[in-house]
Amino acid sequence: MKLADNKATLSFSNGSPSVELPVYHGTMGPDVVDIRKLYAQTGMFTYDPGFLSTAATQSAITYIDGDKGELLYRGYPIEQLATQCDYLDVCHLLLKGELPNAKESADFHKLVTNHTMVNEQMQFFMRGFRRDAHPMAILTGLVGGLSAFYHDSTDINNPEHREIAAIRLIAKMPTLVSMAYKYKVGQPYMYPQNNLSYAGNFMRMMFGTPCEDYVVSPVLEKALDRIFILHADHEQNASTSTVRLCASSGTNPFAAIAAGVACLWGPAHGGANEACLNMLEDIQKMGGVAKVGEFMSQVKDKSSGVKLMGFGHRVYKNYDPRAKLMQETCNEVLAELGLENDPLFKLAKALEKIALEDDYFVQRKLYPNVDFYSGIVQRAIGIPVNLFTGIFALARTVGWIAQLNEMIGDPEYKIGRPRQLFTGATARDVKPLAQR
Ligand code: ACO
Repeated sequence: MKLADNKATLSFSNGSPSVELPVYHGTMGPDVVDIRKLYAQTGMFTYDPGFLSTAATQSAITYIDGDKGELLYRGYPIEQLATQCDYLDVCHLLLKGELPNAKESADFHKLVTNHTMVNEQMQFFMRGFRRDAHPMAILTGLVGGLSAFYHDSTDINNPEHREIAAIRLIAKMPTLVSMAYKYKVGQPYMYPQNNLSYAGNFMRMMFGTPCEDYVVSPVLEKALDRIFILHADHEQNASTSTVRLCASSGTNPFAAIAAGVACLWGPAHGGANEACLNMLEDIQKMGGVAKVGEFMSQVKDKSSGVKLMGFGHRVYKNYDPRAKLMQETCNEVLAELGLENDPLFKLAKALEKIALEDDYFVQRKLYPNVDFYSGIVQRAIGIPVNLFTGIFALARTVGWIAQLNEMIGDPEYKIGRPRQLFTGATARDVKPLAQR
């Protein structure tokens, strides 16, 4: 970051002396006012619940221009990455800063592929869960549990440990997600098959059985790979910030990523794709497209508490570029599977059309986000609804690790420790029980 020529001056109406605050430029996006010395200079904190105006870090990984609807990983537009690269090349880009050349790509694919198996003990760990456990509950446990299996990669301050932990996590997430699925349906776990692509291997571990060969459909494999690319990173979102905060204490990378999985689970974040599909199914049960108007009235009535899931975003105040790519993939997948007349897809289109024209949504700049279509694609592929967020976690793992590594390597990094505006009781004495 570069010091700007201008400074910010903060003045107070009570006559306290004003303070000058440095301003920094990034390479793109809004400048930041550096308030690090504010407390020392004034005895005051800033107040910004939800981080609406606070940059918690500098970062060179992902850039979003929410007004333009632009998303860049390391400077490359998501549209180009999604159409010209595979997920593991994008992982290389996020982790190492550059797209791999042909040899680096082959080496990286081989490296990840060589780590796809999980310790055999993992399946005994699985058995402790109820069969109907939510996959995200299982994944939170399994990912954190990895730290108990790989003692040689738990020192977050050791770059070699971080590197091997990164490869292990990226390689093993598909295996863990598919194990969570197989456990629920009562089928045997499928070992990874290393001659398949990252997405193809995952599909086989999900849908294959030892009884017969599973043939991966190239269209569905490509669709899943695209889902992984579109979800790979998204700068300082809630789960990434959680990973950074968790890792800032010096905990091991597996524990920090488990914290990210837990955060992602929420319906306002990664859980939105599951919530969106559930919403579409509910409207379908109410009567489908004919009931869209009624549903929209509920959404616009604040007292109903109903939201149009898959719409709106803290950063995008324009069409989410990932949603456009996902819509394209959705069309391809439904055509491949002969599901063009899928009622949920038609319903989604009807909702989207109304929302894009409706004043409520237009005024608030609410557009479809990536989750609006990713649920339909995943459902068509055969992925159960409650596994959607697990797929998101699988894909986002690389982003979490890249951000964690960036933070540990940043000389300005400190343990994350927000402050507060205290509004509770002032100091008081404990009365004996009889007098309370
Ligand atoms: N349906 C109806 N109204 C909405 C929606 C929605 N999906 N999203 C926002 N609004 C309304 C809010 O009620 C608010 O209205 P008001 O100004 O009259 O009070 C206004 O739009 C602004 O919304 P905020 O909640 O202030 O926006 P914020 O940035 O805090 O929230 C969020 C963003 C959480 C994503 C929100 O849009 C939402 O809950 N969307 C549905 C869930 C969803 O799809 N999440 C996925 C996010 S993308 C991802 O994680 C991959």
